[in-house]
Amino acid sequence: MASDPGSRNHWYGIWYRHPVDLSAAGLFLFLLGAHGWIEDLKKMCSCDPPPEAPVEEPKVSIDWKNVLIKRDEFLKLVAAVSAGFIGLVIAIPCIGFAFEYFLVPRRQDWIKVGPLESYEVGKTVDVVFTDTTGTPWDGVSAKRSAWLRRVDESNFKAFAVNCTHLGCPVRWEPGAELFLCPCHGGVYYGDGKVAGGPPPRPLHQYATRIANGHVEIKVGPVLAEG
Ligand code: FES
Repeated sequence: MASDPGSRNHWYGIWYRHPVDLSAAGLFLFLLGAHGWIEDLKKMCSCDPPPEAPVEEPKVSIDWKNVLIKRDEFLKLVAAVSAGFIGLVIAIPCIGFAFEYFLVPRRQDWIKVGPLESYEVGKTVDVVFTDTTGTPWDGVSAKRSAWLRRVDESNFKAFAVNCTHLGCPVRWEPGAELFLCPCHGGVYYGDGKVAGGPPPRPLHQYATRIANGHVEIKVGPVLAEG
């Protein structure tokens, strides 16, 4: 029996005769629709990562806080160097004095003060000499003087000119046979002993000797005498 093309049996016959073709065409249409539907879904979806924010270039700026700290450190360094320099200026002379006072041996020299025959027995005169026990840069301060008394033919006594009170130079008074200090009225006998006034001890006395027809006195650092 022939099927009617307008009837229901007609389409059923076509499907029955071409099932693979019709299934492939249906699958194609389904995939086509699915693809469009997925694209629409993608556009609607907000799962895409947000666009990256533009990276800002780092700005060049001055850290004034750190600048202030560095300046403070600089000032501290300057203060430390200055303090060290001042300390050295003060310390070097002290160290030099201590070194010379405690470590350098105290020199003493015999110094000629004149020929023997130039001094009269019983007379006290002042003699000037150069102290060779000092330093090369003493200059004119190396010039010293002393009172020299010829006691007899072969004995002399020599006294420092400085008063033992505060160091003023004493003068010899031949009439009174006394040493007088002009500062505070200190008085010494002809042998250097204290006769009156504030001096606490006798005049410093140098050792003397006669060598090769010359009178010599022994000079060196004058130490405090008790
Ligand atoms: Fe000579 Fe004072 S310094 S009595």
